[in-house]
This record gives sequence, structure tokens and C-alpha cells, in this order.
Amino acid sequence: MSALVSGFSKLSKTEKIDWLIKNHLSTHKDAEHILKQYWNSDEKLQQLHDEFIENTVTNYYLPFGVAPNFVINDKIYTIPMTIEESSVVAAASKAAKFWQSRGGFKTKVLSTTKIGQVHFTYKGQLQALQDFFNSVKPQLISDAKPITTNMEKRGGGILDIKLIDKTTALDHYYQLHATFETLDAMGANFINSCLEQFAKTFIAEAEKHLAQPIDIVMSILSNYVPECLVRAEVSCPVEDLAEKDINPEQFAEKFVQAVNIAEVEPYRAVTHNKGIMNGIDAVVLATGNDFRAVEAGIHAYASKDGQYSSLTHAKIENGIFTFWMEIPLALGTVGGLTSLHPLVKLALDILGKPTAKDLMQIVAVAGLAQNFAALRSLTTTGIQEGHMKMHLMNILNQFEATNVEKKQIVNHFKTHVVTHSAVVEAIEKLRQ
Ligand code: MEV
Repeated sequence: MSALVSGFSKLSKTEKIDWLIKNHLSTHKDAEHILKQYWNSDEKLQQLHDEFIENTVTNYYLPFGVAPNFVINDKIYTIPMTIEESSVVAAASKAAKFWQSRGGFKTKVLSTTKIGQVHFTYKGQLQALQDFFNSVKPQLISDAKPITTNMEKRGGGILDIKLIDKTTALDHYYQLHATFETLDAMGANFINSCLEQFAKTFIAEAEKHLAQPIDIVMSILSNYVPECLVRAEVSCPVEDLAEKDINPEQFAEKFVQAVNIAEVEPYRAVTHNKGIMNGIDAVVLATGNDFRAVEAGIHAYASKDGQYSSLTHAKIENGIFTFWMEIPLALGTVGGLTSLHPLVKLALDILGKPTAKDLMQIVAVAGLAQNFAALRSLTTTGIQEGHMKMHLMNILNQFEATNVEKKQIVNHFKTHVVTHSAVVEAIEKLRQ
């Protein structure tokens, strides 16, 4: 049983580790060494990481890889990806190479509006509330000027505020539903600060002008951003899909069927979309964006028609294969981690210092490419062949194979099917 602790956050890092070992890791003989071996020897860099969150005891490494050869709107990109799953970067690179000679990826930002809400309750007459809202709306916007001035100078800011009656869904429940343009910032802090100011003005003025009080429940942005949309697409004549073992007509048809299945079958749609998120999350993480917000928003969008469904779509029309996706993405290339984390800055430099709109397009392409690679494997060889080839190194590392052993075994599996037991057998045989 672990002990409760108070004032933990005030302890030094070393004291926190001592407490952790004493209370949770007393039987783990390497605990202190493992925690400390991930500390960076550059103390300033370590301190930067320590200060991202509370109670940091060490760093958690993930691989940072790059997938080259992405042609997006005729421009070449190398896409940085942060992810632990063995096959994701390889699959991205393969899809990039495949489409590079077939016209590349075409993308378009369809909209960039973000949303925030002040949720409140009110028990009086709707008309009185509506009249009050109409009269106070200019002041809601003007009282937020200290927050919005800089954003407005750059061309963004508050787009609109609406009063929404939600009383049929929940007794006495109303919203101020606000829309924003946040340009290259993801905008969470900007939006939340504006909303909290709206709430302050709203309640102060309501006390003066409304017979019945309003009660603010909370003010917060929405991570559902169906009006911050990007589209990515690939297309080519069906015959151009030909590759060495692939009949292009059969492949195109099976591919479209696989997408159609994900469109109508939620069990498949979740896995299908998970594969898309393999690509999206990896770039979102590498570029210092909030992958939880992106995940929540995209999955909500996948259910927008009442049933969870595929994010991608495909068709064959007049001999042309087209595969596309429209997704909501609220991303930033300024502010937050983008100006703090050295690797994030580097990732953005690899991408040529993209605007938020550029990044939306790059991330959408990473998702579409990942789905293309997954469906291509699933509808032809099956997923395990490529997956296990990439996973081979993980199994070898589990068995602490030396570099010489790795070289020999990787060579052996160029012509043999990789399974966990086959790799174990090969290692044992080699070591005899
Ligand atoms: C594995 O991480 C992702 C896949 O399962 C996606 C899919 O099934 O489409 C391969």
C-alpha cells in the first residue's frame, strides 16, 4: 500500500524520486538509474523540460523520424513524425513515394473558424434575455479589446457571438456561442481568455439590466471544430495504380470496397480511422500541437451524421481513382510548445516554417497517406507481413541481440516470414 503525501509538488526533483522509490519502487533495483539516465546532461535543456509540467521526474523518449518525398500541391516536403509504432513512418514514406510519381497530394483549407462557449443558466423570459443579449453584445466585444487587439492587428479576432437557447435539451440552459479566427495560433488561450471576459461582462451587465439572474456554469473553447476544415486528396487513372504484383483494376475496386466497409461498419471504421490517426498524431506531436484536442475533434467529426464512420472516401469514376478526406484540425505554428521545445522548432523548420494553414494540409496528407498504405497492405498482402518486418527489431531488442546477431537475423528474414516464435527460434539457433 502506498502512502498519501501532501506538499509533493514542493519537493525537489531528487526528493520526489526518493519518495517514489520508497513508496512504489522499493523492489525495483534499477529504478533510480533508469529515471536518471533519461535526464539531459544539458542542465538548461533539462530544466526547460522539467518546467513543462508539474512533478517531472524524468523525460519520456519517443522516436522522432522523418518521412521524405511527400509532394503536396507540387511542393516537396519531408514530414517529421513522432511515434513509437514500428511501421508508421515506413508506411508514410512508402505512400509518399507511390503518389510522388502519380501527381502527388492535392490539399485545400476549406475553413478556419474556431468555436468557444459560455454555458449559463437563466430562469426568466427568453425575450428579455434576447433583448439584453442584443444590447450587451457590442460591449462583450469591446470589453475583450485588451485581449483581442494584437490578434486583430494580424487579421484575426472575434468573428461573432450568438445567444443559443438550449432549454429543450436541458432546463434553463443557454449559451453564448462565439466564433473566432486565430490565424497561426491554435488559439486555446486566446479563446478561453475572451470567453472568460465575455462571462464577466455578461454577468455584471445582467445584474443591472435583467429582472432574473443568470448563472455562469463555465466558459471554454470547443475542441469540436467542424468549421476549421481541411481536405486532402490523391487521384490518378486506375491503370496508373499498377505495381509489380498488383492488378490495378482489381486493386482499385477492392480498395474502394474497403473504404465503403469503413463507411457503413463502425467496428471497422474505428480501426480504419485509428490508422489515419497514426499519421495525424505523429505529425501533430512532432510539431508540438495538442493531439488530444485533435483526436477528440476528429472522432466527433467522424460521427457527425449520427453513426461513427470512415473519415476517408474513395471512388472510381470514368477510369479515375480518387481517394480523399476532409477533417477538422485546429493547429498552431506559433505560441505554446512551438516556441519552447527545441525539437518542435526543428520540426517546423524541416517543414519550411509552415503557417497553421500549411500545417493543416501537411497533417491531413499524413493521415490520408497512412490510410492509403494500410488499405493497400490490407487488401493485398495483409498487414502482418510489413508490420512484422518492422517489428523484428523490437523482438531482437527484447532479446538484447548484438549488432552482429541483428544483421544475421534481419538477413535471414529477408526470405522468411517473421513471427515472434520464428524470431526466437532463429536467435536460439544462432546462439547455440
Ligand atoms: C495499425 O496501427 C493500424 C491499422 O490497423 C489500420 C487499419 O486497419 O486500417 C493497420
